[in-house]
Amino acid sequence: MSPALEHFDLKNPPLGDAAAQADVVDAILNGPETELVPLLQAIQSAFGFLPRDVLERLALSTHIPLARIYGVATFYAGFFFTPRGRHIIRVCHGTACHVRGSPRITDELSRTLGVASGETTEDHAFTLERVACVGCCSLAPVMVVDRRTHGRLDAKTAVKIVARAAEDGR
Ligand code: FES
Repeated sequence: MSPALEHFDLKNPPLGDAAAQADVVDAILNGPETELVPLLQAIQSAFGFLPRDVLERLALSTHIPLARIYGVATFYAGFFFTPRGRHIIRVCHGTACHVRGSPRITDELSRTLGVASGETTEDHAFTLERVACVGCCSLAPVMVVDRRTHGRLDAKTAVKIVARAAEDGR
């Protein structure tokens, strides 16, 4: 986390609160980061994604054209433009996982959570994603919930793991 953000409650980003957003952006701009990518990383760590109105404020404050900010941000896969869930579920769809059943896992999670792959639940609890090989094919099929890897899954077990993550509030 950027030291500039230490005084903010990042569990409750000030979405929709223009004054509070301005405070966060000012803190970031007064912090140690001066290059655009670290500034974007700090914004994403504060808000969980890159809200358009915050990027507009960044453009105004830095005199970097908004189009350039979007050009840089969209170049990197690690930046997001819509809110993400508190829990990120990544189901591996690499070849080994695919042939061992990851489509069934994604379908079941999608049905249970009520979101398609790439979407976030309405309560912002979960984001469901399909990803390429996560590097542990011998455990296929694999899913990663937050930072924890779960292997040799079936759809029923995957749903239980996600339910547990929700209960733990992790
Ligand atoms: S294909 Fe899923 S971990 Fe490699």
